[in-house]
Amino acid sequence: MTLRPLTVWDAGVLQPMLDDPAVRAAMRWDIDQNRDAARWLTSVIQQQEHPHYRFVYTFGVVLDDTDVLAGVVMVTIAREDEHAVPPVLQAELSIFLAPEHRGHGHAGRALRRVREWCFDDLAVLDPFGGSAPMGEVIAACLPTNDASRSMLGRLLVPRGTVEAASRRGGGTVTALKFGLTRAERREHPGR
Ligand SMILES: CC(C)(COP(=O)(O)OP(=O)(O)OC[C@H]1O[C@@H](n2cnc3c(N)ncnc32)[C@H](O)[C@@H]1OP(=O)(O)O)[C@@H](O)C(=O)NCCC(=O)NCCS
Repeated sequence: MTLRPLTVWDAGVLQPMLDDPAVRAAMRWDIDQNRDAARWLTSVIQQQEHPHYRFVYTFGVVLDDTDVLAGVVMVTIAREDEHAVPPVLQAELSIFLAPEHRGHGHAGRALRRVREWCFDDLAVLDPFGGSAPMGEVIAACLPTNDASRSMLGRLLVPRGTVEAASRRGGGTVTALKFGLTRAERREHPGR
């Protein structure tokens, strides 16, 4: 499994993944909303979410020795606390795979690699000046998502529940939160 940047040319392969009800539920996307892969890619690649203090990195998960795009890992960087000086960053990870590529451990390996990259190799230029350290890597999943829950529990530390924004008709939804701070990572080097 390797990672590469996504481009708008991946839209055709991605469209069925975005149409998958399991992916829509996990990403808390509106089940009825038509999500066009080319538009979605354009918006994430152009960082249109919160251009002033959030960055979104999107990677394709590519199977070893092939050019098969099996899924997507997203890393959303935000400040832990907008007012903290100096700023400390938080990276939220999310992932989805095409159904035929699930159950082979690809997602766990991809997220572990991205988690390490966030702590060790990622320098984010803070729009307010300088670069800020990565304080914590976090992720969340729905309580009913057994595969994700088990995978995240091995990579990060469970943090209880959180009310997360739902993009499915608005409002919030209860999600399980996971996280790993830099200090926790030092304490559990084998994690
Ligand atoms: C969640 C997802 C990314 C996991 O990908 P994957 O490559 O299949 O994950 P793995 O093979 O590493 O399996 C992860 C764990 O889930 C378990 N698992 C897999 N499918 C499962 C299922 N249907 N029910 C319960 N557990 C399941 C595996 O046994 C494994 O646990 P273990 O290592 O303790 O045995 C994938 O199922 C997916 O894309 N789902 C739809 C989108 C989604 O839910 N994304 C997560 C949002 S955070």
